[in-house]
Amino acid sequence: MANSGEAAWRSANRAHWDERTAIHLAPGGYNFAALREGRAQFAAIERDELPPLAGKRAVHLQCHFGADTLKLLQHGAAAVVGLDFSGPAIKAARALAAELGFADRARFVEADLYDAVAAIPDAGTFDVAYVTWGAICWLPDISRWCEIVAKMLRPGGSLYLADGHPAALVLDDAVAASDGTPGFYTPYFSGDPVIYCESEDYIVGETTFKNAITHTALVQMMRPDHVRWHERTEVVDEQAEGCSGAV
Ligand SMILES: C[S@@+](CC[C@H](N)C(=O)[O-])C[C@H]1O[C@@H](n2cnc3c(N)ncnc32)[C@H](O)[C@@H]1O
Repeated sequence: MANSGEAAWRSANRAHWDERTAIHLAPGGYNFAALREGRAQFAAIERDELPPLAGKRAVHLQCHFGADTLKLLQHGAAAVVGLDFSGPAIKAARALAAELGFADRARFVEADLYDAVAAIPDAGTFDVAYVTWGAICWLPDISRWCEIVAKMLRPGGSLYLADGHPAALVLDDAVAASDGTPGFYTPYFSGDPVIYCESEDYIVGETTFKNAITHTALVQMMRPDHVRWHERTEVVDEQAEGCSGAV
């Protein structure tokens, strides 16, 4: 991490993800049935787009508890390495790999994304870097992320990235306009982190987090050079009071 702002960003996010991992692993959380039965499927977008995996070595960055990492093996990859900064997530990933008989072909590394090159001794040898769904928004510097990905790959290796576009988050029902249509929720063109007070999880729905504050950068991939930003502070202030959504 380059500076104290980023360190604070990381420690808040990691506390949040440690907590979220426990929620995902508890009853009512992730469903591992298909993975345990050896028939886990990728989302349709990935099925259409993923490069052939047979015999490939893949690195999965921000792997959470490794369900998708192990899915890469079920779909033909020869060996995988998953990296995530959440200790509980990596512990769960190792247990899942052992349970499914993949311990010899799956390695899980607990490290911050920006420390990946030091943490993965075989960086520079992977055929595929796999990064999907809700990953890069958590990172303060997308240029450094690109460098890390490049350092993971062998010459000619490829990155597979599938993620939501931040434009989808600009308007949201959480701040409905007076006519009931979705209102303005998150700034699109700001380079500053968007600080959320999380009250919903994408698996279990509404929930109360002890570590609710998170930092995200939504638009770093798409930041234009010539757009005029008009502040909408009244929206931001309203939300800050109730600590819901983007603050
Ligand atoms: C939405 S999850 C990704 C889910 C993933 N697509 C999967 O395979 O299940 C985001 C992950 O990013 C991880 N993460 C966030 N910031 C990180 C960082 N700076 N370094 C490493 N992992 C990070 C979190 O711990 C979490 O597991």
